[in-house]
Amino acid sequence: MNTNLSSSIPSQLETDCVVVVVLDRNERDRGEKDKPVVTVESSDATVCEAAKDVISNGEVTGKMFETTLLHRPAGLKAKRLLLVGGGKAKTFSAAELRKLAGVAVRMLKSKSIRSFAFVVPETAIPAGQGLRAVVEGAFVGDFEPGYYKSDRNEKDQKIDALTIVVPGNVHGDAHDAKALESAMQAGRIVAESQNFTRDLVNEPSNRMTPTMMAERAKKMAAEVGLNCETYGADKIKQLKMGAFWGVAQGSDEPPALIVLRYDPVGAADKVHLGLVGKAVTFDTGGISIKPADGMEKMKYDMAGGATMIGAMRAIALLKPKVKVTAVICATENMPSGKAQKPGDVQIAMSGKSIEIINTDAEGRLVLADGLSYARQLGCTHLVDAATLTGAVVVALGYVNAGIFASDDQMYERFANANKQAGEKMWRLPLDDEYKENLKSNIADMVNAGSRWGGAIFAAMFLKEFAEDTPWIHLDIAGTAWMEEAKPWIAKGPSGIALRSLVEFVKGWES
Ligand code: BES
Ligand code: MN
Ligand code: ZN
Repeated sequence: MNTNLSSSIPSQLETDCVVVVVLDRNERDRGEKDKPVVTVESSDATVCEAAKDVISNGEVTGKMFETTLLHRPAGLKAKRLLLVGGGKAKTFSAAELRKLAGVAVRMLKSKSIRSFAFVVPETAIPAGQGLRAVVEGAFVGDFEPGYYKSDRNEKDQKIDALTIVVPGNVHGDAHDAKALESAMQAGRIVAESQNFTRDLVNEPSNRMTPTMMAERAKKMAAEVGLNCETYGADKIKQLKMGAFWGVAQGSDEPPALIVLRYDPVGAADKVHLGLVGKAVTFDTGGISIKPADGMEKMKYDMAGGATMIGAMRAIALLKPKVKVTAVICATENMPSGKAQKPGDVQIAMSGKSIEIINTDAEGRLVLADGLSYARQLGCTHLVDAATLTGAVVVALGYVNAGIFASDDQMYERFANANKQAGEKMWRLPLDDEYKENLKSNIADMVNAGSRWGGAIFAAMFLKEFAEDTPWIHLDIAGTAWMEEAKPWIAKGPSGIALRSLVEFVKGWES
């Protein structure tokens, strides 16, 4: 998708479609009787006039995601005018705007419209932020997961060109063209990286083995100028990663330890961020095998790792002045004659011993060694992302990802970044009381315990390996894969957490 900036008056744009946001400025919300007060978010009187009838007759209410397509709008040079509802003006933010750009993309491309102009609302959102949100939302909305469909029509449904209209001289002050241009570039980098991650996650396990994932990381690293090292079983054994190897030993596919380094000149040497990702390219459960029903979905069990690879891509291109290292532990979790069995004891890289109660609790095993390795590489702050537990889906559904944090200050930073990124996450606790559950008769800890509070148990387990390094854990099991399409995004891989991670990393710039 080509993107370009324009400061033209919307009605003067020659395009297949001009998109404007409509909002409901009625702040009360008492049901039927309360009529919406709909406003068109453009200062162009011609556009407002063209939308007047459908608003006054009640057809357009401004409701979130409502779309109204007008043909040959009076006074406009564009062929069409699309009104997209953004809900109540009071609560309208960049997060909603991002989604509306996705809604416009998905609605228009389904009608074979390949180019359009999106008018950034001149509301409370600063122009640069609004522009960036539109670019991000449009790219995210343009992604389609149907790679292997032979029907080209369905596959090639993509937008070719997007014009983002930031009206010039809003409220008398001209925008800084350079700042706008760089906001557009940043939006593009982040969203394309998110789609890069979604590409990886979308691949089935026969086309995204640990080795293939390592190759993809290498290729990407070469393109954006990152350092990338990938290792196999020998290195994993040499580093004494007994927990990681315990999972990997059961598979005929070799595991991969992927290390991506970003070390810019001028970065403060006090901070070294570590991004650790679970990349189980297929999770059968191992000997504690999963039921057949729904097992095909376990190809996305590498989403945490794919997110870290995608985040490193964005970081390499955005060039924040902070040192970042990503450690991705990639393996299959398979049952076989070589597979670990319940009751086995594994010695992790940190030296701690783990009694394997359930071989399906494998993500925490690979991450345990990933976290230790990131610490050994000198990381001062750790963030991990993983499709770790079904229990987080029980707790938070498909809406929020779970956040766990050992350090409140680090959490505050992350929560701010998360808000900026417009991703939904909810903090869950890590009280010492939960530690009880980790006890084993034979080893330092068990890898699985009681059903209750399963997401917290997994996080408590990881905490043992983050040790005293400030650490955040993101459980994205319920959010990395969209079970249903939404108006702004296709079903399938979501790329959740990447935008928050990139924003978080940027926040440490020296
Ligand atoms: N990969 C799964 C978690 C998962 C569940 C991801 C649903 C995506 C959707 C993880 O490895 C797993 O199997 N967890 C077990 C842990 C249990 C055995 C303690 C679970 O959540 O059931
Ligand atoms: Mn599992
Ligand atoms: Zn898993």
